[in-house]
Amino acid sequence: MVKPLGRIYTLMAGALIVISLGGCALKHATGNLVTGKKLFATNCASCHTLSHANSTGTVGPNLDDAFRQDRADGVKSTSIEGLVDYWIQWPNTQGVMPSMLLKGQDAQDVAAYVAAVAAEPGQDTGALAAAVAAKVSPTPAVGKTIFTGVGSCGSCHTLSAAATTGTVGPNLNSLKEACAAPASQKVRGSTLEKCLHTAITNPYAYIPPGYKSGIMPDTFSKTLSPSQIQALVAFLSSVTH
Ligand code: HEC
Ligand code: HEC
Repeated sequence: MVKPLGRIYTLMAGALIVISLGGCALKHATGNLVTGKKLFATNCASCHTLSHANSTGTVGPNLDDAFRQDRADGVKSTSIEGLVDYWIQWPNTQGVMPSMLLKGQDAQDVAAYVAAVAAEPGQDTGALAAAVAAKVSPTPAVGKTIFTGVGSCGSCHTLSAAATTGTVGPNLNSLKEACAAPASQKVRGSTLEKCLHTAITNPYAYIPPGYKSGIMPDTFSKTLSPSQIQALVAFLSSVTH
């Protein structure tokens, strides 16, 4: 028996008509998964369950269930991405899902993320896991767990208060001194807090003597949430001297 591809098939047939009428409705997949996950959290999670995104919405269909059969049938992620992108732009007009929630690259990024994780076992890791990190209270204690945990700052930095011994980057025990240097103050700001915030979110703006740029990740402003960065700043400014 030939297994019908069901929804994919029907919707793709619709999409083909759109393509032939309106040009390139389904562009080649070039989605940014981290951006896609963030957009999913703010635009889709309230209505849809998707286990990798930790979302539990029940207004719309569970998106793991929705694509489980397609996955089992060997439908490629790029096809699923095309379908989701199409669905965002042309949802069922009699349905509940608002049309045109997202457009262009944003729609494609979300589609790429859903296609990458729907009905897949396991959990997001790395930058994806940190993308929509929960709001944390910006206390030194929380900052310490980020320093040794999701930020993995300790792998490169020595800091007594966190018991880390990394040597790739500067020793952070005497940050106060480093931030007080006139050359640093000019670029990173005159207060310790400003200096730390800049050092974490825009590390190549000022390179401490003896180091070079391109080693410390310059993506923390994307992979950590604003409250996580605040917590790091609170932690570091409370322990450094
Ligand atoms: C207000 C609630 C709501 C929001 C927000 C929402 N959806 Fe939906 N979605 C639905 C509902 C309800 C359906 C079922 C069809 C219908 O009634 O429109 C659906 C259907 C779908 C389907 C088809 C699933 C299937 O079984 O074929 C996909 C894919 C989808 N949504 C993805 C998304 C994405 C991606 C976003 C964010 C950009 C999103 N939805 C935002 C309510 C929502
Ligand atoms: C892969 C190694 C690496 C990781 C991971 C890393 N850093 Fe760095 N860090 C460096 C290097 C190298 C420098 C010096 C060059 C520069 O500023 O880019 C630096 C510089 C700094 C400075 C400025 C120090 C000074 O003396 O002026 C601070 C503050 C800092 N890092 C904090 C952090 C925090 C907080 C994290 C985790 C969120 C982190 N770093 C993660 C390598 C790293």
